[in-house]
Amino acid sequence: MTDSPQSSVNKRLVILVSGSGSNLQSLIDGCESGYIDATVSAVISNNPEAGGLERAAKSGIPNLAIDHRAFDNRESFDQALSELIDGFSPDLVILAGFMRILTANFVDHYLGRMMNIHPSLLPAYPGLHTHRRALEAGDKKAGATVHFVTPELDGGPSIIQAQVEIDNHDNEGSLASKVLAFEHKIYPEAVKWFCDGRLVMENNHVKVDNRSISDSGIIYNLIEPSS
Ligand code: GRF
Repeated sequence: MTDSPQSSVNKRLVILVSGSGSNLQSLIDGCESGYIDATVSAVISNNPEAGGLERAAKSGIPNLAIDHRAFDNRESFDQALSELIDGFSPDLVILAGFMRILTANFVDHYLGRMMNIHPSLLPAYPGLHTHRRALEAGDKKAGATVHFVTPELDGGPSIIQAQVEIDNHDNEGSLASKVLAFEHKIYPEAVKWFCDGRLVMENNHVKVDNRSISDSGIIYNLIEPSS
């Protein structure tokens, strides 16, 4: 019997989703192709209807729903979620469109081994409706940030950012699609670095190849300098 491509790799990923899971798909693809040296051990959702669960099933990845509405409070949900995650002994926990605010206890438990992707150029626009807010503010650029998760909402240190230009004709939907396409590039990249042992968080700062990087993270700049 031959091993499946994923059985020879070492890092274990648990990915949390609430929605369609297009970022999850980019990470599954990255693992399946061998670009990311890891196995997706499980996909977990707080939303039993999440499209991400189906994507996992299609790739034969264990997928589980734990409905937050069945819990009395945030603490008891986070406790149960954490037990579920830890059952898969992950090296890295990845939030990929996981639409829940997490308790500090939960976050502390995974400090330095939990990442998120947020659709703005953090520290601008933490929270929801990022593209709408960027358009309303008349910003010239938008983007996405991969960052380590700390107890402050969308406030952990940045690893990598993708910047895109906002055109005059952009609306919330067009900007979201434009940014999402680049989320699918930067998230696998950051996860690859982590799995290759090149990326760590130390004292709330990010180091790549043992060197501190700027507070914005490494910029994946898609805005061409104007000629
Ligand atoms: C992405 O825009 C991500 O930045 C945000 O939630 C969205 C998830 O999209 N955190 P998908 O489920 O990965 O398609």
